[in-house]
Amino acid sequence: MTAGSGRSSVTVTDNRTGKTIEVPIADNAIPATAFLALKAPYAPGEREENDTPYGLRVLDPSFMNTAMIQSAITYIDGNKGFLMHRGYPIEQLAEKSTFLETAYLLIYGELPSAKQYGLWQWEIMHHTFVADDLAKMLKNMRYDAHPMSIFISAFAAMAAFAPEANPALQGRDMYVQNKDVMNKQIVRILGKATTIAAMAYRLRIGRPFNAPRADLSYTENLLYMMDHMAEPNAYRPDPRLAKALDVLFILHADHEMNCSTSTMVHVGSSLVDPYSCVAAASAALYGPLHGGANEAVIRMLTKIGAVENVPAFLEAVKAKKELLFGFGHRVYRETDPRSKIIRQVADMVFDVCGREQLIEVAIALKDAALRDEYFTSRKLYPNVDYWSGLIYKAMGFPLDFYPVLFVVPRVAGYLAHWKQQLDSGKNKISRPRQVYVGPPRRDYVPLDQRPDRAVSSASGLVDLPHYMSKRRLHKI
Ligand code: CMC
Repeated sequence: MTAGSGRSSVTVTDNRTGKTIEVPIADNAIPATAFLALKAPYAPGEREENDTPYGLRVLDPSFMNTAMIQSAITYIDGNKGFLMHRGYPIEQLAEKSTFLETAYLLIYGELPSAKQYGLWQWEIMHHTFVADDLAKMLKNMRYDAHPMSIFISAFAAMAAFAPEANPALQGRDMYVQNKDVMNKQIVRILGKATTIAAMAYRLRIGRPFNAPRADLSYTENLLYMMDHMAEPNAYRPDPRLAKALDVLFILHADHEMNCSTSTMVHVGSSLVDPYSCVAAASAALYGPLHGGANEAVIRMLTKIGAVENVPAFLEAVKAKKELLFGFGHRVYRETDPRSKIIRQVADMVFDVCGREQLIEVAIALKDAALRDEYFTSRKLYPNVDYWSGLIYKAMGFPLDFYPVLFVVPRVAGYLAHWKQQLDSGKNKISRPRQVYVGPPRRDYVPLDQRPDRAVSSASGLVDLPHYMSKRRLHKI
């Protein structure tokens, strides 16, 4: 309710026409479609492409202040540095829960009962095998392929191995009508995510795949599939590392409308199968501004190399020649609460694997940035990726595997949002509008009547090197 009039609305007057509309506020949000009621005639000389008589558009590049969905899954108070899932603070989940339990909470809305939890775990761990033909496909990837490329490709391919899960074949509303088919895909996707991740790793080190083991916990099984070699007795990962990874997985499980989860919702809104959705969402996560940041942090710290080089690096950041990876967030204007928990996990891992050398550089860099007005005035604080890379490095994971360790748990969040969207009964295809600023309507000009234009990078046509043998370096 507003303090003044008691009415929960905003009144907007269109100064072009004098028309006033009252837009309702619900949950401190206004519907963007309300502005379509503000129609006006074209102003003299105005571009026709502005569509002015059809209603006012809302322009929000990069979604700086546009809520895409109503959600009951995750809440972030970016000003206080607070995060909760289904009402439970992340600190409590990290301390008391397990990743699979948190995944259930995210997807189904409540913490599972003991019986539900047992069945949930059993189902996921018994859906960890992947089709042998899929494994053969993955073996054809280049030895130096980025593991995220393998992960994304595997999920895209997996859709082809599950025709019974494909709305294109089984009917558009199959997931609305049949919750069991939906639930089955959820456990299959969660189960197979670790197997695909381990396969991506084994490909890189040129070792055969290990079959998953349903008698181990989710993260133990992942470590087992990655690390089992020729031990006469089955290899058992260090329980402290499996626990540390489990906590990291809880911290990464969901983070509301981040770039990749919003991709999941966007792609899912077309009603395509969930495997294709996960492939698309994972691709969004792969980028260095999102899930690739943990990898980028280590590359940055390695480049800095020593504590004495920190000031020069920060100067380069301030001169906008470098980016301080692991700092800043679209929502947090305070320290990311996950980064505080992760710092404790780091010590747990260092106890087992030894202290990571780059930690001194990381601490010096963080401290110097937090003392610097450039960063504080822009409210740039460490995010989850600042520390996670150091833990992964200490645990001996290869650098390019870090985003995989981010995406595997984030699959739980993707599925929670996919399910929420389809269950809402309100799914409509995501289709943003645009404001067209290109050329006005014009007529086609035949090739021989067009003016001569230079070949340049800007026109997209440069003489690209083709890396051919000298024998072929002649032009036809
Ligand atoms: N280093 C240096 N300057 C920065 C940084 C940074 N990491 N982040 C933001 N800024 C500056 C930016 O240059 C801008 O300055 P100015 O006002 O002078 O133009 C100001 O701070 C506002 O930044 P912005 O780019 O408008 O912020 P954004 O909300 O669009 O971007 C972000 C958010 C996370 C992409 C960005 O902070 C960033 O690139 N951080 C580094 C990459 C990173 O750590 N990503 C992981 C994010 S957390 C986990 C996840 O979501 O995957």
